[in-house]
Amino acid sequence: ATILIVNGPNLNLLGVREPHIYGTETLESISNNCKELAKTLGHEIEFFQSNAEAEIIERLHQHFSTPVDYIIINPAAFTHSSVAIRDAISATNVPFIEVHLSNVHQREPFRQHSYFSDLATGVICGLGSQGYLFAIRYIDQALKQN
Ligand code: DQA
Repeated sequence: ATILIVNGPNLNLLGVREPHIYGTETLESISNNCKELAKTLGHEIEFFQSNAEAEIIERLHQHFSTPVDYIIINPAAFTHSSVAIRDAISATNVPFIEVHLSNVHQREPFRQHSYFSDLATGVICGLGSQGYLFAIRYIDQALKQN
Protein backbone atom coordinates (compact mmCIF):
# COMPACT_ATOMS: atom_id res chain seq x y z
CA ALA A 1 0.00 0.00 0.00
CA THR A 2 0.99 3.63 -0.36
CA ILE A 3 1.18 5.68 2.83
CA LEU A 4 1.49 9.47 2.61
CA ILE A 5 3.26 11.11 5.55
CA VAL A 6 2.58 14.86 5.83
CA ASN A 7 4.56 17.14 8.12
CA GLY A 8 3.70 20.73 8.89
CA PRO A 9 5.66 23.89 9.66
CA ASN A 10 9.01 23.96 11.43
CA LEU A 11 9.41 20.20 11.34
CA ASN A 12 12.18 20.74 8.78
CA LEU A 13 14.15 22.09 11.77
CA LEU A 14 13.97 18.86 13.77
CA GLY A 15 17.32 18.10 15.36
CA VAL A 16 18.10 21.74 16.09
CA ARG A 17 14.64 22.93 17.13
CA GLU A 18 14.00 22.74 20.90
CA PRO A 19 15.63 19.30 21.21
CA HIS A 20 14.43 18.98 24.83
CA ILE A 21 10.89 18.93 23.43
CA TYR A 22 11.28 17.41 19.96
CA GLY A 23 14.39 15.25 20.29
CA THR A 24 17.65 15.31 18.35
CA GLU A 25 16.62 13.23 15.35
CA THR A 26 16.33 15.04 12.03
CA LEU A 27 13.30 14.84 9.76
CA GLU A 28 15.49 13.18 7.14
CA SER A 29 16.37 10.44 9.60
CA ILE A 30 12.69 9.99 10.50
CA SER A 31 11.88 9.77 6.80
CA ASN A 32 14.57 7.13 6.24
CA ASN A 33 13.39 5.05 9.19
CA CYS A 34 9.77 5.22 8.02
CA LYS A 35 10.74 4.15 4.51
CA GLU A 36 12.87 1.30 5.80
CA LEU A 37 10.12 -0.07 8.05
CA ALA A 38 7.49 0.32 5.34
CA LYS A 39 9.67 -1.55 2.88
CA THR A 40 10.09 -4.53 5.22
CA LEU A 41 6.28 -4.62 5.60
CA GLY A 42 5.75 -4.33 1.84
CA HIS A 43 4.51 -0.74 1.70
CA GLU A 44 5.64 2.49 0.14
CA ILE A 45 6.05 5.86 1.83
CA GLU A 46 5.62 9.30 0.31
CA PHE A 47 7.19 11.71 2.77
CA PHE A 48 6.25 15.38 2.57
CA GLN A 49 7.00 18.49 4.63
CA SER A 50 5.98 22.09 4.10
CA ASN A 51 5.90 25.28 6.10
CA ALA A 52 3.02 26.59 3.99
CA GLU A 53 -0.63 25.81 4.61
CA ALA A 54 -1.49 26.03 0.89
CA GLU A 55 1.23 23.56 -0.08
CA ILE A 56 -0.03 21.03 2.45
CA ILE A 57 -3.56 21.43 1.13
CA GLU A 58 -2.35 20.98 -2.43
CA ARG A 59 -0.34 17.89 -1.49
CA LEU A 60 -3.51 16.39 -0.01
CA HIS A 61 -5.45 17.28 -3.18
CA GLN A 62 -2.94 15.24 -5.20
CA HIS A 63 -4.76 12.21 -3.80
CA PHE A 64 -7.43 12.81 -6.44
CA SER A 65 -4.95 12.29 -9.29
CA THR A 66 -2.56 9.89 -7.51
CA PRO A 67 -4.45 8.07 -4.75
CA VAL A 68 -2.90 6.97 -1.47
CA ASP A 69 -4.22 4.28 0.89
CA TYR A 70 -3.54 5.85 4.25
CA ILE A 71 -2.20 9.13 5.62
CA ILE A 72 -0.06 9.89 8.65
CA ILE A 73 -0.11 13.60 9.45
CA ASN A 74 1.76 15.75 11.91
CA PRO A 75 0.18 19.11 11.12
CA ALA A 76 2.52 20.77 13.69
CA ALA A 77 1.23 24.25 14.61
CA PHE A 78 -1.55 23.94 12.01
CA THR A 79 -3.02 21.24 14.28
CA HIS A 80 -4.35 24.01 16.44
CA SER A 81 -5.35 26.51 13.78
CA SER A 82 -6.18 25.10 10.37
CA VAL A 83 -9.77 24.45 9.41
CA ALA A 84 -8.53 24.51 5.79
CA ILE A 85 -6.17 21.53 6.20
CA ARG A 86 -8.84 19.71 8.19
CA ASP A 87 -11.28 20.23 5.31
CA ALA A 88 -8.69 19.07 2.77
CA ILE A 89 -7.91 15.81 4.56
CA SER A 90 -11.60 15.24 5.15
CA ALA A 91 -12.28 15.78 1.44
CA THR A 92 -9.89 13.00 0.50
CA ASN A 93 -11.87 10.53 2.62
CA VAL A 94 -8.60 8.69 3.25
CA PRO A 95 -8.20 7.28 6.78
CA PHE A 96 -5.43 8.94 8.74
CA ILE A 97 -3.45 8.86 11.96
CA GLU A 98 -2.45 12.08 13.70
CA VAL A 99 1.07 12.05 15.15
CA HIS A 100 2.86 14.51 17.43
CA LEU A 101 6.39 14.07 18.69
CA SER A 102 5.68 15.85 21.96
CA ASN A 103 2.90 15.18 24.44
CA VAL A 104 0.74 18.16 23.53
CA HIS A 105 -1.44 17.58 26.61
CA GLN A 106 1.53 18.29 28.86
CA ARG A 107 2.15 21.68 27.23
CA GLU A 108 0.43 25.04 26.76
CA PRO A 109 -3.38 24.95 26.83
CA PHE A 110 -3.61 26.15 23.21
CA ARG A 111 -1.96 22.88 22.06
CA GLN A 112 -4.69 20.80 23.62
CA HIS A 113 -7.21 21.43 20.91
CA SER A 114 -6.76 19.73 17.57
CA TYR A 115 -8.78 20.32 14.40
CA PHE A 116 -7.89 16.76 13.34
CA SER A 117 -8.35 14.36 16.24
CA ASP A 118 -12.10 13.83 15.87
CA LEU A 119 -11.58 12.75 12.25
CA ALA A 120 -8.48 10.61 12.84
CA THR A 121 -8.48 6.84 13.22
CA GLY A 122 -6.21 7.48 16.19
CA VAL A 123 -3.78 9.95 17.68
CA ILE A 124 -0.24 9.27 18.86
CA CYS A 125 1.59 11.90 20.88
CA GLY A 126 4.51 12.13 23.24
CA LEU A 127 6.37 9.10 21.91
CA GLY A 128 8.84 11.09 19.82
CA SER A 129 9.78 9.94 16.35
CA GLN A 130 8.72 6.38 17.19
CA GLY A 131 5.14 7.61 16.88
CA TYR A 132 5.50 7.56 13.09
CA LEU A 133 6.76 3.96 13.17
CA PHE A 134 3.94 2.81 15.45
CA ALA A 135 1.48 4.44 13.04
CA ILE A 136 3.00 2.52 10.10
CA ARG A 137 2.73 -0.77 12.02
CA TYR A 138 -0.90 -0.03 12.86
CA ILE A 139 -1.70 0.77 9.23
CA ASP A 140 0.00 -2.43 8.09
CA GLN A 141 -2.22 -4.50 10.40
CA ALA A 142 -5.37 -2.53 9.60
CA LEU A 143 -4.91 -2.93 5.83
CA LYS A 144 -4.14 -6.64 6.16
CA GLN A 145 -7.35 -7.17 8.14
CA ASN A 146 -9.43 -5.66 5.34
C1 DQA B 1 3.92 19.14 17.27
C2 DQA B 1 3.16 19.83 18.40
C3 DQA B 1 2.60 21.17 17.96
O1 DQA B 1 1.90 21.78 19.04
C4 DQA B 1 3.73 22.10 17.54
O2 DQA B 1 3.22 23.31 17.04
C5 DQA B 1 4.65 21.47 16.55
C6 DQA B 1 4.98 20.05 16.67
C7 DQA B 1 4.64 17.86 17.71
O3 DQA B 1 4.99 17.06 16.85
O4 DQA B 1 4.86 17.66 18.91
O5 DQA B 1 5.21 22.16 15.70
O6 DQA B 1 2.98 18.79 16.26
